[in-house]
Amino acid sequence: MMISHTLTVELGDRSYPIYIGEDLLGQTDLISNHIHGSSAVIVSNTTVAPLYLDKITNALDQANIRHDLVILDDGEKFKTIDSVLTIVETLLNHRHDRKSTVIALGGGVVGDIAGFAASIYQRGIHFIQIPTTLLSQVDSSVGGKTGVNHPLGKNMIGAFYQPQCVIVDTSTLTTLTTRELSAGLAEVIKYGLIYDATFFDWIEQHAEALMKGKNEFLALAILTSCRIKAEIVAQDERESGIRAILNLGHTFGHAIETKMGYGNWLHGEAVAAGMVMAADLSLRHGWIKQEVKKRTVALLGKCSLPVMAPRNMSTGDYMDIMSIDKKAVNGTIKFVLLKALGEAIVTSNYNPELLKLTLIKC
Ligand code: NAD
Ligand code: GLY
Repeated sequence: MMISHTLTVELGDRSYPIYIGEDLLGQTDLISNHIHGSSAVIVSNTTVAPLYLDKITNALDQANIRHDLVILDDGEKFKTIDSVLTIVETLLNHRHDRKSTVIALGGGVVGDIAGFAASIYQRGIHFIQIPTTLLSQVDSSVGGKTGVNHPLGKNMIGAFYQPQCVIVDTSTLTTLTTRELSAGLAEVIKYGLIYDATFFDWIEQHAEALMKGKNEFLALAILTSCRIKAEIVAQDERESGIRAILNLGHTFGHAIETKMGYGNWLHGEAVAAGMVMAADLSLRHGWIKQEVKKRTVALLGKCSLPVMAPRNMSTGDYMDIMSIDKKAVNGTIKFVLLKALGEAIVTSNYNPELLKLTLIKC
């Protein structure tokens, strides 16, 4: 086999591997070893299926695994409970039983929807993540957060539900648009900011190669990101503590995505602007040096990501939406903020006047 790296998300009897390498799709054993029954439903979308579905169906045919398909419309606005029900209907119509496996082939939207469908069908059936965007390869496919949006808030309906394995085929990134590649880099930069200053330095040094889609650099960025995410998830699967630092920039970012209309600002773009806001608020509290914010803005800018929030959002818009953030307790919003480059904290202990300034100035 040509796998170049295998990591493990250590969760006791629910531990699972993340395979990272080139040309992994279509390797019959890799997928079939993680299918325990004799049937599967592949969930993909109208953009990804024409590119990569054949490789998966060929692998399943070779392993004699019966398979049905759900091809969803493409886009964040289809990350809805209706899409979940479409998958459930296909499972029911084709008499899939509790030994069936859901295979998610696509970006974070497909992965989140398909994982949630798997978590509720007959109280939970197996699923496999095959992420095909940089963002989903470094973040959403790992860690078991699944779910869909509600018009009032991002990811408000969902479950923690871990996959059987994650298959990261870095070759799929060759067909990704530059805008989507940039969006994925936002989450890569996040890992440097919250956990690993040396990784942040490395991204700064190789931003150009990453933006050009050079495979050896992307593969290393994916490996390091997944290693950090797996380490954090292993400590705190259900986000009662440290896992929340993975949401740096997300409280602001989710407000931007919700207010601007799902899909208009890409998730990674909203997170980029949100990380600048988090850095700004940290700086206003005197927790980080000006230089850390400057480097954050410069690196995000170098990766063609937004470093300013949308101009048409008021402080009231942010406060309304952020008050239903999943980290909020009794309406008190918690933020992930920076204490240094490579070190994050989750806190409700911030000065509301400084928060207002950040919302106005960023
Ligand atoms: P996405 O799934 O919408 O994919 C982006 C675009 O790229 C889509 O148009 C898609 O069809 C297309 N695409 C996918 N793979 C492709 C390929 N190989 N070649 C060409 N086009 C391809 O978006 P995303 O950025 O992958 O994921 C964003 C979603 O992930 C958001 O809904 C966000 O909330 C969620 N998310 C979840 C978690 C989690 O822990 N579960 C973490 C981060 C983000
Ligand atoms: N993307 C945040 C998390 O998985 O916890």
